[in-house]
Amino acid sequence: MESKKSSLGSSTPDISPSAAPSYAYALGLTQFQGFWIPSRHVPTSSIISFQKYFQALHEDIIVVSKPKAGTTWLKALVFTIVNRHSYTLSNTPLNSANPHQLIPFFDVDLYKENPNPDLSKISSPRLFSTHLPYSMLADSIKRSNCRIVYITRNPFDIIVSLRHFFRFIDDWSVEDYLEMFCRGEEPYGPSWDHALGYWNMSVEKPSNVLFMRYEELKEDSVAQTKRLAEFLGFAFSMEEEKTGVVNQIVDFCSFNNLKDLEVNKTGKIPRSIIPSNKLFFRSGKVGDYVNHLSPAAVERLSNILKEKLNGSNLTF
Ligand code: A3P
Repeated sequence: MESKKSSLGSSTPDISPSAAPSYAYALGLTQFQGFWIPSRHVPTSSIISFQKYFQALHEDIIVVSKPKAGTTWLKALVFTIVNRHSYTLSNTPLNSANPHQLIPFFDVDLYKENPNPDLSKISSPRLFSTHLPYSMLADSIKRSNCRIVYITRNPFDIIVSLRHFFRFIDDWSVEDYLEMFCRGEEPYGPSWDHALGYWNMSVEKPSNVLFMRYEELKEDSVAQTKRLAEFLGFAFSMEEEKTGVVNQIVDFCSFNNLKDLEVNKTGKIPRSIIPSNKLFFRSGKVGDYVNHLSPAAVERLSNILKEKLNGSNLTF
């Protein structure tokens, strides 16, 4: 592995094996409560405020993921399912706002700007999101009956997606990202602990935690969207199914439709470090990693994942 240059700052250290403390340091990650937090953009103080002050309501819905697992897609689906009786697909706010603006992050948005924001005026069900692991959620969420939807994705496609997404910040190669994942030193990593936390809760409390996979959502979007709606307490009626409402929602939230909306082609989320909404939409494919990662690299991370997930019945 070569020493890397990065636009993260002139103080970026040499991370060649002989010198490297870790990639995490160069990426601006801080180990916090057992996970690697991108603290340059998500101050740990905002996480502490969220943990201290957030009061969950039973009707709350929380979308959770690791970055690049399908967060934007899942937010679009959740927003559309829950609000389908308030908005048609032609007047939904998704036509003029990116999904991230409609379902804010606790740590990146709400508690970053204000340690104790007033969330009481948000209409029910309140929709929130986070990339934080289960162990770092506010206790009030764990005590409440609110619903958590977790989406995961095979780590190889996440690696490739992350590498493309963060080109505006750094010039790490796909191999560098693979190395980070192997060490568990990636944003909100280790990925195995992140996924396991939600997997275990989905087994223990299936009416509170739904475990979804990007690949399954892609493979059978209609069935997975129905599963999601049912879990959220917004199941589709027979009439809706017959009249094609599910298919219309799936089509509206599809990669091709969302990416071509003007707001996602040319818009930008105010105050976000992400320079353009179009970065949230790259190729939307399953298995693109074969074009970027060598079989040996895939085998290396696969073996690590097998070892880390040994004893659980979770696989990637
Ligand atoms: P790729 O880079 O592999 O294309 P996140 O929303 O968690 O940041 O994840 C981004 C990934 O989801 C990107 O993957 C992006 O293209 C893909 N994506 C965004 N919207 C999607 C949609 N509606 N359907 C399928 N994939 C989508």
